[in-house]
Amino acid sequence: MFDNVAARYDFLNHTLSFGIDIYWRHQALKLINFSMNPRLLDLATGTADVALMAVKKGARKVVGIDPSQGMIAHGKTKILQKGLDSTIYLIEGEGEHLPLHDKSVDAATVAFGIRNASDISKSLAELARVLTDTGVIVILEFSRPTLPVFKQLYLFYFKTILPWIGSIVSPDKKAYHYLPASVLDFPERNDFVRLMQDAGFSDVRYFSMTVGIVSVYCGIKI
Ligand SMILES: C[S@@+](CC[C@H](N)C(=O)[O-])C[C@H]1O[C@@H](n2cnc3c(N)ncnc32)[C@H](O)[C@@H]1O
Repeated sequence: MFDNVAARYDFLNHTLSFGIDIYWRHQALKLINFSMNPRLLDLATGTADVALMAVKKGARKVVGIDPSQGMIAHGKTKILQKGLDSTIYLIEGEGEHLPLHDKSVDAATVAFGIRNASDISKSLAELARVLTDTGVIVILEFSRPTLPVFKQLYLFYFKTILPWIGSIVSPDKKAYHYLPASVLDFPERNDFVRLMQDAGFSDVRYFSMTVGIVSVYCGIKI
């Protein structure tokens, strides 16, 4: 599915979120101390937006991992255009089996990707394995808003309007039905915090953004 939407992914992302997705990634990356020039893993990197932003903020090396060849191909084009191909490496792979050595990265990010993992707990355990001790993990994911009236309006947009617009403009008609379904299936905030703790992260916290439609989770590898 991600291969099918790869060519229009960035355009659809920015349009359907009214451009606010850029702000969400930016806020999430504020939780990482870039003054240490960390080596960073960006899991579910897609077209490499987080990877590119992380380098701009000071990451020394970034490895982006994603199972979609199509998304990676578009990411590589963007990286080449910016002349960053010796700083950002994109590799095909899945969160459940990271092709990286133990304790090989100082920070890890997953933006709008952890909910796609077939085994979320295994992916979190893999992220803990590849992080150095005291390494930071930052996970950005959609969540359900809690404010009563806004919640109904948002769910109507998310479940009805967005799939309808998606079916008109996206090459994959099912993709924008999958999006709300996968978000509504994703664990509630506190349940996800517990999954992160079980995987070996301490000091796990989350912050909600934009009336709770997105949450950013962070923790430290024990
Ligand atoms: C919504 S996109 C997010 C891309 C990017 N992080 C962003 O912020 O735009 C979700 C990505 O998760 C990837 N994905 C799907 N299953 C995965 C898995 N098991 N492990 C890691 N990534 C996965 C998809 O290929 C896709 O590129």
